[in-house]
Order: sequence, then C-alpha cells, then structure tokens
Amino acid sequence: MKFFIDTANIDEIKRAQDMGMVDGVTTNPSLIAKTGKDFETCLKEIVETVDGPISAEVLGTDRETMVAEAKKLVTYGEQVNVKIPMTVEGLAAVKTLTDLGIKTNVTLIFSPNQALLAAKAGATYASPFVGRLDDIGSHGMELVSDMLQIYQNYDYATEVIVASIRHPIHVKEAALMGADIATIPFAVIQQLAKHPLTDIGIKRFEEDWKKVPRT
Ligand code: G3P
Repeated sequence: MKFFIDTANIDEIKRAQDMGMVDGVTTNPSLIAKTGKDFETCLKEIVETVDGPISAEVLGTDRETMVAEAKKLVTYGEQVNVKIPMTVEGLAAVKTLTDLGIKTNVTLIFSPNQALLAAKAGATYASPFVGRLDDIGSHGMELVSDMLQIYQNYDYATEVIVASIRHPIHVKEAALMGADIATIPFAVIQQLAKHPLTDIGIKRFEEDWKKVPRT
C-alpha cells in the first residue's frame, strides 16, 4: 500500500520521509491554513521536497473556475495533481482536465455512487473520507470496501486514496482491503510504529545486558 502523508507541514513531511513513509502528499485548504503560511510558499516547499504525487485543492465551485485553477496548480510541478470536490460541476471539471491530461483527485466522497461517478469522469484518484463518515455514525471503511469492489468489477484505473484517517485501525483495514493508497496524518504514522511490548522488550534487553560479564 502506498503511504501519502496528509499534511502541508514541511517538517512533518521531512520527518516521515526520513522513515521512508512518504510516497506522496495530500493537502487541502484546512491543512494549508494550519501551517500559517501562504498557499504558494507551502506548495512550492512541498514540490521541492517530494517527488511523488502531491494533491493541491481548487477553491472554485464552477467548472470554468476549477479548470482555470487546476491549470495554474500544475505549473508548480509535474507531480502536482488537482483535488476537485465531488459535485456535478466538479465532475465536469474532472472530465475536462482528464481530456487535457491533467491528473485529478476527487475529494469529499461519501457514497459508492459518488465513487462510481468519479471513476467514470476519469479521476486519477478518488478519496473517500472515512473518519468523517464514522463521525456521523456510518461505517467509513465499508465505503472503501464498496469502492474497491466497484472499481475491480469494471476495471477502472482510478486509485482509491483512503482519506480522513484518524487512527491505526483505519490503516490496518485499508491494507487488508487492498486499498491502493492511505493518506495518513503524521501523528498516525508515528502511532503505527509504536507498541508497548516493543518498548518493554527494549527495556528488558537493556537491563539484562547489564548482567552480561564484561571481559
Ligand atoms: O484527507 C482528508 C483529510 O485531510 C480530512 O481529514 O480528519 O479533517 O476529516 P479530517
């Protein structure tokens, strides 16, 4: 499974890269706002740091505006793909951008039918927001399972990016389902590496090592 990091924070991106965990990056307006930096500075830094796919989101709501924004976003780097919201206008923008050879990531997907439409429009990536579905009492990972089945049924090339990941169980389930990509916040990447028995084990080895006679 490919790991994208769900952040616009350059320090987090570099720290995750040091661990070999960054195949790509996803951003959104909320994540950009959290950095306190302007959008252009943020995106430029990420493009200079990461070779893999980088999602940058449009703010427009009509096809023409989204397409114009997308054309500008891809000038920042060839690895940039354009995040488009899952709306009727968004699908039209995805269709236009696909015809122009511009890669897209359809975001804010909450149902299997939305996922089907995103693939039909030609999306490169489709992002189901699992945590936000869990928040309203739905089962977010069920959507991922449905999407993978639908895309497999019809051989769609659209890759599923499991998004709005909140905890390690989301990652484990995504991997078991065979999701193409999980986009994971840095804090969750750190959690994935941890186990209390690992820490206890290290401590015990250190203590026992002290009992080994020195020559
Ligand atoms: O990848 C989408 C993500 O940034 C949204 O996460 O936790 O705000 O639902 P969250």
